[in-house]
Amino acid sequence: MDIVLSGIRPTGNLHLGNYYGAVRSFVKMQNEYNSFFFIADWHSLTTHPRPQDIQQSARTILAEYLACGLDPEKATIYVQSDVPETIELYLYLNMNTYIGELGRVTTFKEKARQQPDNVNAGLFTYPTLMAADILQHRAKFVPVGKDQEQNMEMARKCARRFNNIYQTELFPEPQNFYFGNEALKVPGLDGSGKMGKSEGNCIYLCDDEKVVRKKVMRAVTDNGPQEMNSPKPDVIQNLFTLLHIVSDEETYKYFDEKWNDCTLRYGDLKKQLAEDMVRTLNPIRERIEEYKSNTELLDKIARMGADKARESAAATLREVRKIIGFRVY
Ligand code: TYM
Repeated sequence: MDIVLSGIRPTGNLHLGNYYGAVRSFVKMQNEYNSFFFIADWHSLTTHPRPQDIQQSARTILAEYLACGLDPEKATIYVQSDVPETIELYLYLNMNTYIGELGRVTTFKEKARQQPDNVNAGLFTYPTLMAADILQHRAKFVPVGKDQEQNMEMARKCARRFNNIYQTELFPEPQNFYFGNEALKVPGLDGSGKMGKSEGNCIYLCDDEKVVRKKVMRAVTDNGPQEMNSPKPDVIQNLFTLLHIVSDEETYKYFDEKWNDCTLRYGDLKKQLAEDMVRTLNPIRERIEEYKSNTELLDKIARMGADKARESAAATLREVRKIIGFRVY
């Protein structure tokens, strides 16, 4: 059975970008693939979280994964730091990765701009750690949003290069997997291109109905359509993209026609958008509350996932050590 893997950094609650960009695909894929979904707590160290928050942040994401429908009976759900094998592979991959190519990764350049006092080596080698996450299970498909395309390209490069250097076919080249046919970028409500934690423009899965409506009603707009069939400015296109993601085809068409014949009222569009978001989020939020309060269950699921993930990673690492020439223990 083909293997699928993906992960999310525990740097806050999950938002609609995470859900539509990645988690929704996980939930679908767990029925058809040998699936690994993890919480990337080592990756979150690039921004130096407080020790007392580390475990709680991972539990929060785990509760949110479960609330979205990830099933520990079907998928291996684990915390990255519970699988030390990852680090050994990370080291080997770093030996074959060049500083020139790591320096060209856009997310690295962006982060280096955002946190100029903390451009650490972990940030620089972020893509090789991500490649190790993927390759240790020899995953073939990786459900991610558009922002991860370059990291995925690096993961493929790591696989190809290792295979070439050692004349082996150990690693499949992992492919991006999208729920529809193309990479998704869920826009923010502030007119910016992307919904993201650091952008502060998110609808979180745990936001209650009132909060969702308030955020949507406050979304940035303009003076309204001025000319029949005119192209939509970015801020308006963002709202339509969101509508396309959370509503059905017919609703989207209805508002699109209203835009085209200049009768669209943004208030109506926003009300509909909020309504459809609330419909998706209400049941998820209720389940988040239930799971979050059950720390014992969360820790049990994480332990179970860690055992399965370690077994899979250890099998790959045995092969890797043999191939490189190390003793296998
Ligand atoms: P992270 O934690 O930034 O985001 C988790 C997932 O959510 C997707 N995403 C979005 N998709 C569409 N629109 C958005 N606005 C949006 N915001 C976030 C991301 O594309 C991602 O799929 N490097 C990863 C974590 C990671 C990983 C891995 C992923 C570590 N190792 C191995 C896959 C495989 C990250 O920082 O994602």
